[in-house]
Amino acid sequence: MQFLPLIEAKRDGRTLAVSDLQEIVAAYTAQAIPDYQMAAFLMAVFFRGLDPTETAALTLAMRDSGEVLRFPSDPRPLVDKHSTGGVGDKVSLPLTPLLACLGFRVPMISGRGLGITGGTLDKLESIPGFTTALPSKRIIELVQEVGCVICGQTDRMVPADKRLYALRDVTGTVPSIPLIVASILSKKLAEGLEALVLDVKFGAAAFMPTLEKARELARAMVALGNQCGVRTRALLTQMDAPLGRSAGNWLEVKEAVACLEAGPGRGQLVPGRIGSPSGSEVEAAPITDDLTDLVLACAAQMLVLCDPYPSVEAAHGAAAACLASGAPRRKWDEMLAAQGADLPAFYDRLALDPTAPAMAEVKALSGGFITACDARVIGEVVRALGGGRLTKDDVVHHAVGVDRLAKPGERVTPGSLLARVHGLEVGQVQAACSRIQAAFVISDGPPTPASAILEVLS
Ligand code: URA
Repeated sequence: MQFLPLIEAKRDGRTLAVSDLQEIVAAYTAQAIPDYQMAAFLMAVFFRGLDPTETAALTLAMRDSGEVLRFPSDPRPLVDKHSTGGVGDKVSLPLTPLLACLGFRVPMISGRGLGITGGTLDKLESIPGFTTALPSKRIIELVQEVGCVICGQTDRMVPADKRLYALRDVTGTVPSIPLIVASILSKKLAEGLEALVLDVKFGAAAFMPTLEKARELARAMVALGNQCGVRTRALLTQMDAPLGRSAGNWLEVKEAVACLEAGPGRGQLVPGRIGSPSGSEVEAAPITDDLTDLVLACAAQMLVLCDPYPSVEAAHGAAAACLASGAPRRKWDEMLAAQGADLPAFYDRLALDPTAPAMAEVKALSGGFITACDARVIGEVVRALGGGRLTKDDVVHHAVGVDRLAKPGERVTPGSLLARVHGLEVGQVQAACSRIQAAFVISDGPPTPASAILEVLS
């Protein structure tokens, strides 16, 4: 293959053949194309785009650059959810055992946080003993036996994306819709899925800043997912304020457990109670509607994709009843144990509050209604505390972050708690508190009520 004419063709806005894209991906994966040429090609794609046939060819070639999971045939549909990422987005943690209890098999292959958005693997690694690095044989065994697994991509899955994403990251070519579609869907298709629910976020702290851009991305992924034989739907959700009441790895695990515990008490804005296996009770992070609502919305969309439910409302009711039964809470422990977690140590840690060396509270300076809480600022603060990464090699401190976040729409009086900040030392926590204070807007009147879930694309 001669690569230069293909770079020139894309530079000039011409359409590439399916076989050209297959050869490009195979050659780049085999390290037969130098990075400087691939960087030029990616920039040409960034400006000229790819049509749907080219995007499909690129996606499938990337999927086939490595191993594809092959599960035994089973009546339980193989499903997954993917979020484009946000601050406080811990939906995968309660959703995975919930879907397993609803009769799905869930190979939830997740990623790490980079930038201000958290990563599911970092959150889970705050659980003592829990392993996220599993070979494909073990992923398949656990999905068959437990019904779900949450782990990282194996070294052999989609190697083309690993190389391409690293190059896009340093060449300014990440925000290209066809490249994002190919990157996300190649990894999801390598799981051998039957159905996929996408949570495409937009807003201050999202990858896609506007609803229009998020819709464009969601439409492209839904169309290609369905074209590739994976029943696919997308939710378009707001990411202006953090999801739930916590951001930071361990604090989000705690909130996810509270969401699973909430079951019958769903919707109460009160601290949840977590029953430990030893029988003692500990106070958990408060549960919130927006987290549970999004978990149930994702589960309901999955049920209508795979089952003859008469309506999304009926599917939502089934998901809520399942959550309330407590079965997903037990499934969570089963999944943790299967992935090596030390459950007694996990419960001991749940009983600690706070777990980080330093903690301080942020209080409202005036009374009124919270009309905004800037998720971007919260994400930056969590990262500065050590809860996220600026480069791939940065060490993540699991205990740091923010919890008990007040939510837009809530009424506060001077001195009301807006958030708690957990950090490694007092000076760092105090600096973070001033930034968190400034992230809140308190006004005389309540904000216009808005659903966090704006649209569903199917
Ligand atoms: N997430 C991915 O996995 N790939 C992208 O290109 C962007 C977000």
